[in-house]
Amino acid sequence: MECVEIIGGKPLSGRIEIQGSKNAVLPVLAGCVLHAGISRIRHCPRLQDVEDMIAILRELGCLVWWEEDCLTVDASFLSGTVLPKETAGRMRSSIFFLGALLGRCGQADIPYPGGCVIGARPVDFHVEAMRSMGAGIDEAEGRIAARAKRLRGVEITLKLPSVGATENIILAAVLAEGVTVINNGAKEPEIEELCRFLRGKGARIRLLPQGSLEITGVSALKDSEHELIADRIAAGTYLLAAAVTNGVVTLGRMPVQHMQALLDCLEKMNIAIKKEGKDITVDCRKPHRGIEFLETAPYPGFPTDLQSPMMTLLAVTEGRCRLRENVFEARFKTVEQLRAMGAQITTEGREAIILGVPGLHGAQVRAEELRGAAALFLAGLGAEGRTQISGCGFISRGYENICENLKQLGADISVEE
Ligand code: UD1
Repeated sequence: MECVEIIGGKPLSGRIEIQGSKNAVLPVLAGCVLHAGISRIRHCPRLQDVEDMIAILRELGCLVWWEEDCLTVDASFLSGTVLPKETAGRMRSSIFFLGALLGRCGQADIPYPGGCVIGARPVDFHVEAMRSMGAGIDEAEGRIAARAKRLRGVEITLKLPSVGATENIILAAVLAEGVTVINNGAKEPEIEELCRFLRGKGARIRLLPQGSLEITGVSALKDSEHELIADRIAAGTYLLAAAVTNGVVTLGRMPVQHMQALLDCLEKMNIAIKKEGKDITVDCRKPHRGIEFLETAPYPGFPTDLQSPMMTLLAVTEGRCRLRENVFEARFKTVEQLRAMGAQITTEGREAIILGVPGLHGAQVRAEELRGAAALFLAGLGAEGRTQISGCGFISRGYENICENLKQLGADISVEE
């Protein structure tokens, strides 16, 4: 999917179900190589990032197959520990194979990961953690080559609560010798989800009273079947799409408990929210109230991955908002595109000032990264007239069937390959 055309201005209405979580499934897929056997993952989203992880798993000798929304990985006959540059270099999550392959095989050779350009995104915490667990690591020619006879448990205190580094350390620690403790680790729901998946395979992981994680190494894991949590970022994006179009939408299979920061914000903006079990209905027909300040933060704060889609809503909400991005330093790439659609936004460093306008107008715009692409989809849905978005390959990395879902909610959207 390269180019999408949206004729905007139609309020969304109806119901869709929320996909399985992208950010949860990526470390889980790397975790499958820890076990010489079967891992089954239900409610697995069909996304480009998932296909790229599957390609890596197959390169490593795993058998991987789909049965409807269930993905099975058989890692019985793992035959390699070197990740291909073409696939692995494209996605940041290939770095999860560092911990997982070191844990299972005592060696891993990984290209420096790619992924969305939203900041420097180094992997120094990951590499340092593996070193402290006893791995010898050579970094040369764009690759990380690591070796360890058997990793050993240590106490690691992260400088920042990095989501990826916390997950990589967990993956490395599951089969390590002794006990690993992670202090100042990330608290995102996807961390708990990785732990739940690994516990289902026999891993010993517990949360310590002060919020640290303790992983006691075991000698082997077992076959498992796991149902994946729903994607709180996709869910939030659809809620924001309803808001931008002043629609009334019901979303099923919602990860309600993981969405408080966004729901609080929407309520402040005068959007009516009804929760019923795992359904959420938003009624966005009343005029929205502006908010003066919003900042992203690690969980349970407002998620950085919803910052760009939220910016689209703020762009058409009366009033002035100061939006601060605390997690990544270069996450305002969509501002210029939104401006081309009539938004009034200026940026300085980590802050954007948004002056709400009554409406946006259609334009030709280009997506530069995944969540920025989602923000442009929302802008197109809310705008008067025709919006053509190129660079839409990014959207398939994180949103399953987004065009079909939006069509089901009444959007006028078409895809040009
Ligand atoms: C994950 C999510 C991404 C989300 C982000 C923050 C996945 C697959 N991706 O990304 O969608 O936006 O969490 O919620 O789950 N850092 C370092 N050194 C490191 C690692 C991180 O300096 O070794 C810095 C980063 O540059 C960034 C901050 O720590 O400024 C947080 O990054 P991190 O939590 O690691 O994000 P990801 O795991 O890459």
